[in-house]
Amino acid sequence: MAASTRLISRLTLVTGGGSGIGRAVCQRFASEGASVVVADISPDSASETLEKLQTDHRGQGHMAAEVDVASKESVKRLITNVQSLYFQPPSVCVNAAGITQDDFLLNMDEDQFDRVIQINLKGSFLVTQAVAQALVACGAPKGSVITVGSIVGKVGNIGQANYAASKAGVEGLTRSAAKELSRFGIRCNCVLPGFISTPMTDKVPEKVINKMMSLVPLGRMGEPAEVADVCAFLASDDSRYITGASLEVTGGLFIG
Ligand SMILES: NC(=O)c1ccc[n+]([C@@H]2O[C@H](COP(=O)([O-])OP(=O)(O)OC[C@H]3O[C@@H](n4cnc5c(N)ncnc54)[C@H](O)[C@@H]3O)[C@@H](O)[C@H]2O)c1
Repeated sequence: MAASTRLISRLTLVTGGGSGIGRAVCQRFASEGASVVVADISPDSASETLEKLQTDHRGQGHMAAEVDVASKESVKRLITNVQSLYFQPPSVCVNAAGITQDDFLLNMDEDQFDRVIQINLKGSFLVTQAVAQALVACGAPKGSVITVGSIVGKVGNIGQANYAASKAGVEGLTRSAAKELSRFGIRCNCVLPGFISTPMTDKVPEKVINKMMSLVPLGRMGEPAEVADVCAFLASDDSRYITGASLEVTGGLFIG
């Protein structure tokens, strides 16, 4: 693949950057010339990602940061630190932090429900809000916020009432943000991955994976890099007329 330079001199923030899809997004953004803030609740994973990032372009500088996206204070601290180090807020933000806590609805604890909503949905709200507030406050001409939903948010999934609810919420949040923020030049879009091979899906029993694979028209799980490619498109000006969209990256799973 020819090296692309679509993100040169863009400051980008990727939550959940320490693993899986978030890590692949950091790598793709860095390879396209962006400076990347790798943010994760695990500082060790964030540093591990940081070590893998290319810095082939002049002015490119990456950093790793610890953040708990479910905490408003932690998110505020992150944005303040980024602004004091780079003298600008990130103009691209990918909300890839997320968790699962699967259980059948009949057994699910209130805590399991709350935790997944707190991180996946409220976390996406807090980060999107903080980045948008910073961009508007400094009069930035444009921004691109990308949320990570899931195909499960559309179709539901056995054992994932909490997760599916959180991801359906992320889509609604993204469309509302798109409507409110377009007048500030900020586009907001959601990617909906299907089954992507990451530490998150490593936990899924093989029996379930095999059953899912039989439903994927393209006949295999996706790679994190394949979701990252779509995020790079949505981050770049190639998608300048796209906002409020949800893009499925599923190999055709559940197209109907
Ligand atoms: N893997 C899939 O098949 C798949 C499918 C659909 C959607 N997704 C979504 O993609 C995103 C990334 O998933 P993944 O598969 O790469 O998972 P992953 O477990 O590999 O990575 C998630 C990362 O989020 C971080 N994180 C967790 N809680 C956090 C918090 N409170 N604050 C900051 N960081 C936190 C983790 O430390 C981890 O590094 C998630 O939102 C997930 O729901 C994944």
